[in-house]
Amino acid sequence: MNIVILAAGMGKRMRSDLPKVLHHIAGKPLVAHVLDTARQLLPGKLCVIYGHGGEQVPLALAAGDVQFAKQEPQLGTGHAVQQALPFLDENLPTLILAGDVPLTKVNSLRALVAAAGTDKLGILTVDLSDPTGYGRIVREGANNDGKISHIVEHKDATAAQHAIREVNTGIMIMPTTKLKEWLSTLSSDNAQGEYYLTDVIAKAVSEGVEIVSAQPDAEWETMGVNSKLQLAELERLFQGNNAKLLLEQGVTLLDPARLDVRGNLQCGRDVSIDAGCIFEGTVTLEDGVTVGSCCVIKNAHIAKGSSIKPFCHIEDSVVGAGSQIGPYARLRPGTTLAEDVHIGNFVEVKNSQISAHSKANHLAYIGDATIGERVNVGAGTITCNYDGANKFRTIIEDDAFIGSDTQLVAPVTVGKGATIGAGTTLTKDAPAGQLTVSRAKQISINSWERPVKKVKAN
Ligand code: UD1
Ligand code: CA
Repeated sequence: MNIVILAAGMGKRMRSDLPKVLHHIAGKPLVAHVLDTARQLLPGKLCVIYGHGGEQVPLALAAGDVQFAKQEPQLGTGHAVQQALPFLDENLPTLILAGDVPLTKVNSLRALVAAAGTDKLGILTVDLSDPTGYGRIVREGANNDGKISHIVEHKDATAAQHAIREVNTGIMIMPTTKLKEWLSTLSSDNAQGEYYLTDVIAKAVSEGVEIVSAQPDAEWETMGVNSKLQLAELERLFQGNNAKLLLEQGVTLLDPARLDVRGNLQCGRDVSIDAGCIFEGTVTLEDGVTVGSCCVIKNAHIAKGSSIKPFCHIEDSVVGAGSQIGPYARLRPGTTLAEDVHIGNFVEVKNSQISAHSKANHLAYIGDATIGERVNVGAGTITCNYDGANKFRTIIEDDAFIGSDTQLVAPVTVGKGATIGAGTTLTKDAPAGQLTVSRAKQISINSWERPVKKVKAN
């Protein structure tokens, strides 16, 4: 099939300079959700109609398999679909989706596509307890339960039609040659002065084309975003559904209502996640990993049995098995920790490799460093990796002991089994197996007296 995604509208009620369809659900633009669902149907042609907000939509979505058609001015949904016609394959039916309806499931679309075949017109409809604002599905028969005869927009509907609860979700499919023909005869003689796509239904009926409808499993699949309130509601729906999937997979969520996944979170067995965590990009938590509350973890791999304590921030990093991170640790991009590494509170690690069984438990900055096995990095240690212009590496070999409050002025190497005395500013390599210390000699002055506060005259 061809798929056309309508995304040219302004979204006035969002009160934003950003085009509506580029606002995010789960860290991804609304229309990108629609595109991803559309791709699962393997369309022959995929076309996005854009308009409001200049080139922002095509720039955000640029991909080899998508064609963009500009609609300007925006004269209605029928006029929007017309802009896609030059890009469509006339031998395939065309499925029309809305860029501001992000949560439709691919199975609901498949059911609609199957029902319509190649020669019928199919509409995805839903019964709403409050249908206000939607186009109503008008059916034949006194009880409105016969064949579909047309769609009437809320603003054009009579009081009796307002009582109809079956509405148009905006998602429909039909033969492309027919679509082309019907669109060319649309008029804008209606309450909104727009060319309504929905008017093709009555045209199909008059030509004897069969109309079928399909319904989604859940009402929220067809909910659109018109305001920040609806955006927030759909975000919660999305996150709630995702949390349910994780629970079904056996993940322990201390509070499923306080978890945000903005990307792809893969969990092994017996993973536990406390309240308030945010996962972004692609994150893997292997078997037995526990994540404490309020962690933000992005594009990371956490190996078996590791414990991430509360308030950690981890990005583009790998944590080896059985490691202990935090509380309050920050792992920045390029951090690779081997197994059983301990990174404690207020420790920042960046672009560094730390080998097995090494520890930096308190208040340290480790940047551009390569650290061996069983190394102990004392409290307050800092790798001075930047001279204001260039970055340099620090190398700490196996079994070294770095005393507290040491500054390692890179480039510098600490040899195997070396000990660095507390308070050292290391500017030259420290030889293996020896104690290296650089600090002023301690003296005591017994004649020294504390200054006394002067008493002011007046
Ligand atoms: C439309 C349907 C209505 C349906 C509802 C479902 C029509 C006439 N009405 O109404 O039956 O119940 O969706 O949500 O089709 N768009 C363009 N160009 C335009 C106008 C709109 O690209 O000129 C896009 C919008 O960006 C949006 C979609 O089409 O993604 C729907 O437009 P909108 O104005 O929200 O239509 P509704 O009035 O909600
Ligand atoms: Ca709408």
